[in-house]
Amino acid sequence: MSGAGAGVFITLEGVDGAGKTTQLRRLAAAFAAAGRAVIETREPGGSPGAETIRRLLVEGEPGRWSAETELLLFTAARRDHLERTVAPALAAGAVVLCDRFVDSTRAYQAAGRGVARRMVDDLHAAFIARDPDLTLVLDVDPAEALARGAARGGGEARFEGFGLSFQQGLRAAFRAIAEADPDRCALIDAAGDPEAVAARIRAAVADRGFLP
Ligand SMILES: Nc1ncnc2c1ncn2[C@@H]1O[C@H](COP(=O)(O)OP(=O)(O)OP(=O)(O)O)[C@@H](O)[C@H]1O
Ligand SMILES: [Mg+2]
Repeated sequence: MSGAGAGVFITLEGVDGAGKTTQLRRLAAAFAAAGRAVIETREPGGSPGAETIRRLLVEGEPGRWSAETELLLFTAARRDHLERTVAPALAAGAVVLCDRFVDSTRAYQAAGRGVARRMVDDLHAAFIARDPDLTLVLDVDPAEALARGAARGGGEARFEGFGLSFQQGLRAAFRAIAEADPDRCALIDAAGDPEAVAARIRAAVADRGFLP
């Protein structure tokens, strides 16, 4: 499970509404145009079993789960996603673009909800043991991001339900993660129009040698 594989594993992170899904699609198109096989996936989810767990996590009341139970559900979903989707695609040489991964757990469950960060990292080491080759941390004011997201609708707003100050804390946590691990992470200014953000992302990906 922990084998590096021949592919490239890139994750997108950031607060709710930062533009991860929008930018993942654009980056996938850039890789496809460069002739690479590319898989678009997301967490929680990305495999049938993990999508079932997703519904437990993103729907319902904010207080539905304790932070610790939430951490275990996310880790179970991540393990299934890794086994069934990510690892096989990397072994086949694909570029895997993943919408959220372990840094979201570090931000939401540790920094946001107060689970010990060491618990998150220990579970990651024991059950996942695969870090992205590159993590794009989309940085934007959560008030701006949530205003964007309000247009989406749908029933997956459980984490938005924790409120704006929770989201401000998440932004700080994501920035700290990027700062602490600059080899793996690129902090991307995600304000402004989607094309400008996409250009910043392509530059960061090319800078690391993953796109021409
Ligand atoms: N740079 C941008 N400027 C304005 N609106 C944007 C921008 N990027 C994305 N949007 C819009 O904002 C909303 C949220 O974007 P998107 O779904 O990509 O964010 P996300 O980070 O995936 O959110 P979530 O964490 O909730 O999944 C969408 O309606 C999208 O069309
Ligand atoms: Mg999204």
